[in-house]
Amino acid sequence: MSELTGLRDDVYRRPLATALERLGLGAGWRCADVGAGGGDVSVALAEMVGRDGRVYAVDSDPAARDEVARAAAAHAQVIALTQAGEDLALPEQVDLAFCRFLLMHVRDPLVVVRAMAAAVRDGGWVVAQEPVTTAGRVGGVALFMPDARHPDVGALLPALVQQAGLAVVDAWAEAPAGVGPGPVARYLESLTGVDPADDPVVLPPLVTVVGRRA
Ligand SMILES: C[S@@+](CC[C@H](N)C(=O)[O-])C[C@H]1O[C@@H](n2cnc3c(N)ncnc32)[C@H](O)[C@@H]1O
Repeated sequence: MSELTGLRDDVYRRPLATALERLGLGAGWRCADVGAGGGDVSVALAEMVGRDGRVYAVDSDPAARDEVARAAAAHAQVIALTQAGEDLALPEQVDLAFCRFLLMHVRDPLVVVRAMAAAVRDGGWVVAQEPVTTAGRVGGVALFMPDARHPDVGALLPALVQQAGLAVVDAWAEAPAGVGPGPVARYLESLTGVDPADDPVVLPPLVTVVGRRA
């Protein structure tokens, strides 16, 4: 697991927990974690679905398979797949398709949300968590992430889920914040290379949208 992935898991774990609680995710669920990266979300899902559940950890980067295999070594219910989110083809329909910090990097976010919607069973859930990067602040000044294709895709997320044919059941935003040394400052430094010192930091708010297939 990369240092940045570990820090992200630390500072952004509260929005993840809120979303999974809101869903009532439990034993036996079949899930897909699309753009799984180092597998933090996949492991969190695996712990909640238990041995009778299944988590497909999908990423277009073949290197992610090894990272997921390491992170999820204790969870036989995690299956790592190398696939693009645009061409999602799972061995079975799932109860939940989830993504976090993925749509900001893909060419066309709507194509990926549509593929996630097609991967869930009737009545199943699509949950996306994406940032509004420029709403983050360091010392009151807006953050900027020039490397991401869609750094503010979180601001469009409710509409994207609706355009994918899903009912928007819930949507909200949460942002970790802090001042001085600690996980928020360390995360920001990993992300931008800038040490905020004593400046107050509001990390990019993560917009969560809970969509449901009719
Ligand atoms: C910033 S990481 C997020 C990892 C994880 N979701 C998390 O929240 O910790 C983005 C991941 O999306 C993957 N990715 C980028 N474009 C993708 C695509 N079109 N289909 C599937 N995965 C993709 C990258 O390889 C990377 O592992």
